[in-house]
Amino acid sequence: MKNRLFKFLLGILTVTSTLLVACGDDDSDDGAELSAPEIGTPTEITQNSFFIDWPFVEGAEAYLIDVATDDEFNDLLTSYDALRNGFSEITVTGLEASTTYFVRVQAVLRDVVSDYSNVVSVTTLSEGGNSGSDTFLKNAADFPVGMAVRSNRLTGQHEQILLDEYDQITSEYEMKMNIMYPSEGNFDFTSADATVDWAIDNGLEVHGHALIWHNATPSWVENFSGTDEEFEDMIEDYIKTVVTRYKGKVKSWDVVNEAFEDNTGALRNSVFRQRMGDDYIEKCYNWVREADSEVLIFYNDYSMVIDAVKRRAAINLMKDFIDRGVPVDGFGFQMHISYDFPGKDLIASTAKEVTDLGLLLHFSELDVRANPNNDLVALTNQRALDQQIKVREVVEVYNAIPEESKFALTIWGMRDDETWLVDFWGHPDWPLLYDSDFNTKKAHTGFLEGLD
Ligand code: G3I
Repeated sequence: MKNRLFKFLLGILTVTSTLLVACGDDDSDDGAELSAPEIGTPTEITQNSFFIDWPFVEGAEAYLIDVATDDEFNDLLTSYDALRNGFSEITVTGLEASTTYFVRVQAVLRDVVSDYSNVVSVTTLSEGGNSGSDTFLKNAADFPVGMAVRSNRLTGQHEQILLDEYDQITSEYEMKMNIMYPSEGNFDFTSADATVDWAIDNGLEVHGHALIWHNATPSWVENFSGTDEEFEDMIEDYIKTVVTRYKGKVKSWDVVNEAFEDNTGALRNSVFRQRMGDDYIEKCYNWVREADSEVLIFYNDYSMVIDAVKRRAAINLMKDFIDRGVPVDGFGFQMHISYDFPGKDLIASTAKEVTDLGLLLHFSELDVRANPNNDLVALTNQRALDQQIKVREVVEVYNAIPEESKFALTIWGMRDDETWLVDFWGHPDWPLLYDSDFNTKKAHTGFLEGLD
């Protein structure tokens, strides 16, 4: 608030001094050079207003503000058609909810007008307001909306939100090998069964995650003492046992997760590669298909948007599989991203690399770090707005892919205080759609806006 007062007083001083100069010398504005304003990021966005400001323009006595619903400024709002404003900020009001507006500004001194500023676009919030929504995600989306779950979070408000807002679930960790196959010859499907049975009983789809992952491999498998052939037989038996158990219940599996090294795109030297050979992924995909002719077979990995070399390696493997008839149906981009990165265009262009292959695309583990640089101790209004915009961008990208490529968009956790990210990075963060009291956040509204 102090900043706004300072700017107000400085604005008064600037206008006064300019008027004095102008009055004192009729020729004072001959040849006056007025630079174009530079509008900052819109803030305080509500259903019917937003705030913009820009640095003072030297010599300006006022500013002319255009607001339109098109970026050519053909459809100017009556109230904002070269609206003269004495200060270098304004709250634009009287707007429609869930509508995108375009703004530009000019500086003016008597009859001298500067070039137009940069154009900024703002989308006002949906009717649901900026915290809390009366629209459930699954009702608004024309693709399945997924949520990562744990078997001890399928009751109470967790369950209510899942039933209200989601079509599909992914087990966050209880359908991985280290949980389902904790010791040789000893399967433990307790948590997996509880999760799958809950979903089937409640009419939600189940995406299986993840049969083979170097980070969820039981130690007895890492230290398997048998021959390579016995190792391969054991893995085949494990895969076929699990896939057969959930046949007709689990519609899809991340059969192999994160098989490539960051930056180099080399195949990770996991125990599976070491004991089964470089073609271990193909072997696993074939075993899944042999066990279930219908289940969808996915590859899943992180940094697929930002790590071009790693993405190229994974895409090339999928192309090879498609060319050789190795069964594969889909590709998961995990989407563990930040409020300010990656950009929407890069997300869209990399997603297209998958859909151009004819594969289903799954944004499989979306969370949006609000505090990647650990510069916050609490989620600020501005960062919540930034996160809302990024969620909206991700959903806009997913919503725009070809219908035949749509599989699901899955959020990696329900409440901010349940995210894996805090333990992983060791500092606070608020990356999800609901706060610790199960209230929807601006990020949830951003999801809905991305569906408009
Ligand atoms: O719930 C038990 C608790 O009862 C026990 O006392 C404690 C100590 O053993 O473990 C708790 O389970 C942990 C679970 O997270 C819940 O916190 C598991 O040990 C731990 O391994 C598990 O971590 C999961 C991790 O994958 C490994 O499976 C994270 O929740 C999960 O978010 C994370 O998800 C991965 C994706 O599968 C693949 N992409 C990356 C993503 C993040 O790492």
